[in-house]
Order: sequence, then structure tokens, then C-alpha cells
Amino acid sequence: MWLLYGANGTTGRLVLRVWRAHFPDLPPPLLGGRRETELRALAQAYGLSYQAFPLTTLQNLELPKEIRLIANLAGPYRYTSEPWLKYCLQQGRDYLDICGEWPVFAQLYAAAEEYAQKGLAVITGAGYDTVAGETALTLFRARYPQAQDLRLAIYAEGGFSAGTARAALGVLSAGEVYWQEGQLQPGPTQTCQYRLPDGRTRTFRSAPLAELITYPAWNPELRTLRTYVGLPPKLQRWQGVVQWLSKQAIVQALIGWLLEQYRTTLADRMTLTGRAYAIADSIGAPAYGVFESPQPYWATAWLVLRSLQLYLKEGAAAGVASAFARWQKALWEGLPTQIHWQPKTTPQG
Ligand SMILES: NC(=O)c1ccc[n+]([C@@H]2O[C@H](COP(=O)([O-])OP(=O)(O)OC[C@H]3O[C@@H](n4cnc5c(N)ncnc54)[C@H](OP(=O)(O)O)[C@@H]3O)[C@@H](O)[C@H]2O)c1
Repeated sequence: MWLLYGANGTTGRLVLRVWRAHFPDLPPPLLGGRRETELRALAQAYGLSYQAFPLTTLQNLELPKEIRLIANLAGPYRYTSEPWLKYCLQQGRDYLDICGEWPVFAQLYAAAEEYAQKGLAVITGAGYDTVAGETALTLFRARYPQAQDLRLAIYAEGGFSAGTARAALGVLSAGEVYWQEGQLQPGPTQTCQYRLPDGRTRTFRSAPLAELITYPAWNPELRTLRTYVGLPPKLQRWQGVVQWLSKQAIVQALIGWLLEQYRTTLADRMTLTGRAYAIADSIGAPAYGVFESPQPYWATAWLVLRSLQLYLKEGAAAGVASAFARWQKALWEGLPTQIHWQPKTTPQG
């Protein structure tokens, strides 16, 4: 059995839908979260058990002994990861998350030895971002093994959740960084352009993504890695403004509060049919790879369940590693994905 904490969130709810539709053979989760009323309704709808508790009471939490894995889907992770990891260390349970916040990964990987020594598996980054990014980078390096200076750019359609926006605000306020020869370096804002497989060109702006930590963790020979995010044209001009505003603590708190008020609206507006593109490139390579996959939240829900399936079937080595580093292409089996190789006809910025 496993605990799905954050079951009431946009992504937690999607996990339940995808579980029922696509993974009926997986064991049922125990639903967890801090809102009793919403959890009870969800539990009734899916015929599941639930336990409502806030993270502040974890030190007194008694979970059924048969819960081997805590799937923490509550975020931003800068608030939720540490309490759960502490609990897992104390209680000897494995842990899985869909974190996409590099400062959280930086802390987690720095403490990796402790989890390995205690024999606990920390399966991190089991969502679209990081799995799609690590997939694109891995496919690119298989085709161009000499490439040591990589770029990763993400463009996703279908909307976003309040939790993602709040997490992104926190990451932006930590400043721009890129990976260079074994460490993170502060870097200036950069832009580049890529053509999507359907011919549309998108502008991407540098933004630190989780892959800056998770990918070099198992590819330490890499020289540089820079990450970028592309926004739809109508939002592009706001990206710099949002980046600047995110550095003001009061503004960040206010935007965070507003996002919470609009959480249900954002979830309702999400279109699950959108596509997502993770682009891997290197200066000098004749082509770049575009890894196309389903809408990121739908893909995330699917990847969480696929990770659980692989965890139950094959187990997971003790220590900290991203879901992709653990299972690689087995993670995508069953999902409609495609790699497109786009020849470079113009400089990529
Ligand atoms: N890696 C990826 O590709 C990926 C994809 C999707 C989401 N995510 C991440 O997953 C997280 C959740 O996303 P979402 O789409 O579900 O967002 P959401 O719709 O805003 O829901 C947030 C969830 O987190 C819970 N939560 C937030 N702060 C909490 C706290 N301090 N204590 C306990 N629970 C807390 C909320 O509980 P209540 O219901 O009680 O408020 C809710 O269940 C975000 O950090 C997001 O960035 C990552």
C-alpha cells in the first residue's frame, strides 16, 4: 500500500483519475492531505480510505505498517519536502515526489548519503519536469555523444496549476543559475528560439530547471547545462516582469495568496489534450531533438503511477535518484511520445 499525500491538489486528483482509467491493477492508495472535507469526498468517490493531517503533526503520525511508500504530491516542495523526508528517515519508509524546484534538489542530493546508509529509496522528480527533460538530454547525447555543453528548453501547453506557479515563483526568486563543471554558477538572462515540430517558432528565456541538479548527478562528466522555458507569445513580455517581481518578498506572498484563491479556476481551465515539448541541443550540433509528449499534468499523473508500478515490480535502490535515472525509457512505455530531429537552418540564439 502507498500514501498519496496532496490528493486534493490538481495533480493528486489527476493521479486518481489516471489510476482508475489506466492502472487498475495497482494497489489502492491511502489518501492523505490537510483538508478533511475534500478528502472524505474524494475517498467516497473512489472507494478509498483517507487520513487528514497537516505536515506540522508528522512527528505524531501513525500510518498503517503496510504503507511502504510515501508519494508526496503536495507542493511547493520548499515547504513540504523536508518534513516528509525527515519522517521517512525516522520511520523507515521510501519516498517519491514530483518536485521541480532546483534549490530543493540541491539540498536533497547533498544529504543523499544519509538515505543510502539507512537503506531508504528517495525517488525524486517523478513528474513531467524532470522526466521529459532528462529523456530529451539522454536521447540527444545518444545521438551526439561528443556534446558536452547542453541546452534544455521546455515548452508546454494546456495550462498550469496554482502549485506550479507558486513553486516557479520561489525558484525565480533564487536567481538565474546554470551548471558548469561540477557546480551551479550565477548566469545572465539569455534567450533562444526553436521551431516546434508543427512549424511554430517559440522564444525561450533562461530559467533554472530541476534538471540542473538531477541530470549532472548521474552524468557528472557534463561540462555545461543551461535550461530555458518558452511561454506562449501573449505571456512572453510578462516573463521578465514576473522574474523581477518574484524577488520582492511581499509581492511573492501576495501573488501566492492570489494563486491559492484561483486554484480551482486554474484547474478547471486546464486542457488535458495539449502537448509538451522538451528540446535538447548543443552549440555545434547539426540538429536538435524535440521530445514530444502528452500534456504535462496528465503525463505527470501517469508517470507517478508508472514509477509506482516499477517500484513494486523491481524495487528501488537505496539513496537519492530521479525517477528517470532509475528506470530510464521504461518509464515512458505505454505513453504516446515521439522524438523529432530538427535540422538547424538558422542560428539558435
Ligand atoms: N514535476 C512536474 O512536472 C510537476 C507536475 C505537476 C505538479 N508539480 C508540483 O507538484 C506540486 C503540487 O501541484 P498541484 O498541481 O497539485 O498544485 P495545486 O493544485 O495548487 O495543489 C497543491 C497541493 O499541495 C498541497 N499543499 C500545499 N502546501 C501544503 C502544505 N504546506 N502542507 C500540506 N499540503 C500542502 C495542497 O493541499 P490542500 O488541498 O490542503 O490545500 C494541494 O493538495 C507543486 O509543487 C507543483 O510544482 C510538478
